[in-house]
Amino acid sequence: MERCGIVLAGGTGSRLYPVTIALSKQLLPIHDKPMIYYPLSILMLANIREILLISTPQDITLFERLLGDGSQFGLSISYAVQPQPRGLAEAYKIGEKFVNGRPSCLVLGDNLLYGHSLSAILSRAAQKKHGATIFGYHVSNPSAYGVVEFDRSMKVLSIEEKPLKPKSSYAVPGIYFYDGRASFFANQLKPSARGELEITDLNKKYLEEGSLEVVLLGRGIAWLDTGTHDLLYDASLFVKTIEQRQGLKIGCLEEIAFHKGWIGKEELLSQIKKMGNSSYGVYLSHLLETSRSWV
Ligand code: TTP
Repeated sequence: MERCGIVLAGGTGSRLYPVTIALSKQLLPIHDKPMIYYPLSILMLANIREILLISTPQDITLFERLLGDGSQFGLSISYAVQPQPRGLAEAYKIGEKFVNGRPSCLVLGDNLLYGHSLSAILSRAAQKKHGATIFGYHVSNPSAYGVVEFDRSMKVLSIEEKPLKPKSSYAVPGIYFYDGRASFFANQLKPSARGELEITDLNKKYLEEGSLEVVLLGRGIAWLDTGTHDLLYDASLFVKTIEQRQGLKIGCLEEIAFHKGWIGKEELLSQIKKMGNSSYGVYLSHLLETSRSWV
């Protein structure tokens, strides 16, 4: 069964107030494109094309306006609402019909991953048939995240949500691969003390049966948080710096789709027309021109 994807793009974004009072955090720009493009690109790099986007009742129509049915990116995107931010694992209750017992990948709408061998790492995780794969990333402030502890053989010993005394410096980024049982396990979860269905508790279900794998993302990979004003600015500057230096874009969805053969020149041309004279549109034009010289 083909693996499907869920992008969870709700929440309150309260650490970004007043910026996010009228607009979803995940629609804010990270340099030259909306934040949501980056997690979508992560799913595409994992070869996932059927995607459910979950957001708040007030923001969902904005995502639909931006992304439509996803066909311009060679994707099929459908939409669902999370009435209240009741936790990340709720994605698997809301998305139960969509997932329909298939293996899946959940990505948070505000996560930006970039770096060496990322596509290979994601494709490998996507191919695993049984159990769950999460990632571990060395950070300076593990207490702000889910923290994973593991032994020398990479066997997970514990995962704790926002621990005061973290047992390691490895935080769990917001991208999780599950086999077809994620909704089944999510339905068994009880809200935590803060009233949320915790993704850490879902991961613990897999941990308890010994089928949770943690893959370390090395220092050649950047995992950026965008939750505060400073972090948002830093992420924009990071993308701008790399894109300007290389002349290549990070998270350009049409480019990924075109290279994977999911869209052709016709679709690319119509996106070029839509993007007008923005630097994004100019980049797509260049992509089309250089592709002519490949054939
Ligand atoms: P958080 O960063 O924990 O929360 P938030 O985005 O609402 O921000 P703040 O803490 O400033 O209020 O959420 C991580 C991601 O998950 C983010 O993309 C929002 C999303 N999310 C949901 O979509 N639904 C939820 O129930 C929760 C808790 C988060």
